[in-house]
Amino acid sequence: MYTVEEVKALAKVRTPESLGTLLEIFRSDADIDVRREAVSSIGRHNNSGRIYDFLLTEAFSRDNPMELVYQMFRTCLYRSRDDARFEDLRVRMLDFWRNEILDKMNAYYDFRQSREKPRPVSKITTPLLLIGDNTKTLQTLPANSVQLVFTSPPYYNAREYSDYSSYSEYLARMGESFRECHRVIEDGRFIIVNVSPVITRRPGREFESIRYPIHYDLHRVLTEAGYYFVDEILWVKPEPSVPDRVSGYRQTRKPLSYKPNCITESLMVYRKECAFLLDRNMRGYEDFDRHEDEPIDTTNCWHITPKYDKNHPAVFPEELCRRVLRYYSFEGDAVMDIFAGSGTFGRAARKMGRVPVLCEMNEDYAGIIQSESGGYYDVRGGNREKCCQQITLWEGLQGRGD
Ligand SMILES: C[S@@+](CC[C@H](N)C(=O)[O-])C[C@H]1O[C@@H](n2cnc3c(N)ncnc32)[C@H](O)[C@@H]1O
Repeated sequence: MYTVEEVKALAKVRTPESLGTLLEIFRSDADIDVRREAVSSIGRHNNSGRIYDFLLTEAFSRDNPMELVYQMFRTCLYRSRDDARFEDLRVRMLDFWRNEILDKMNAYYDFRQSREKPRPVSKITTPLLLIGDNTKTLQTLPANSVQLVFTSPPYYNAREYSDYSSYSEYLARMGESFRECHRVIEDGRFIIVNVSPVITRRPGREFESIRYPIHYDLHRVLTEAGYYFVDEILWVKPEPSVPDRVSGYRQTRKPLSYKPNCITESLMVYRKECAFLLDRNMRGYEDFDRHEDEPIDTTNCWHITPKYDKNHPAVFPEELCRRVLRYYSFEGDAVMDIFAGSGTFGRAARKMGRVPVLCEMNEDYAGIIQSESGGYYDVRGGNREKCCQQITLWEGLQGRGD
């Protein structure tokens, strides 16, 4: 039995004998790490003919674990640079396996080979408030111009401001918004969507209510719009702050009647698909605020008390926005909430030196955002006059008007 280290050493001795030993190790040794290392070492030899024959038989064998197939594909990619046989093999492997990991390896490789630079970023530097349906207002923004999106979509029929004829229509509309957003987000940056399951009211006592696991369905919507899953963070609330659902069971202890109190909401963390690693997105930010004095959230459970607002039924606590901004954006970045509501995210962003871009279609909420901020935003679309009236009203309330 060989060890990984011994196999690595065999890669350095580029003789026909050591290549033969490596091929033998691949076929006989049971340890997958050793076999994977053997594939890698075989690829580093300079006998293209024998390597090609090896891949031709092994890269299409369903007996090989996928981990070994990926290593073979890697060899194939690097060899295809100057040997057309491997180029042909790479196309055949992609076609044979039809596997998303191979597709991604291929895209990353192609991107590096083309020496293509990431697309130019046209960074937004003015705080913006776009009033109207975001599927329209987002069209006015340049492509590749926003570095982070954090948002909480309207709840499906759970609050008075949402009105969709069916759940599938709701998901389709969310899809339109996330697709439009995709054009605007910088390649490789994050979109974070805050959701929790919702329940529709019972149409009568003799009917059941329906509970919708929105985040399960939004996963498909987001991936189809061109983002891929990175993390799920749970926003955990204190139990007394959520509606009590368990009281029935507490009294009767009757199985099947159990309904736990829901103290979490999900933050779905996704990244815009691109053919390069995250370090490219971090270039140019060497001098950033490290927040040395602040504790770090080391788990995906963030304990934060919810906030209630007299003007809006479902607002973010500012602390939630602050953490998202800290972990997923740099100072000076343009950061966007496409369903802004009362504009909590914009407030937090401004305090943290980011440039907020907010979309809101309800003109009353938009007016409140603009007035509370003292006219901070460059307002686009909607009824600008109404927004200005709101500012006058707000200034009066603050004792600053006439
Ligand atoms: C859940 S609330 C967001 C609350 C917000 N996180 C806050 O802190 O106040 C969703 C908001 O999205 C707005 N909205 C719904 N559909 C929209 C659309 N297509 N374009 C722009 N805004 C929309 C609603 O008017 C509502 O204010």
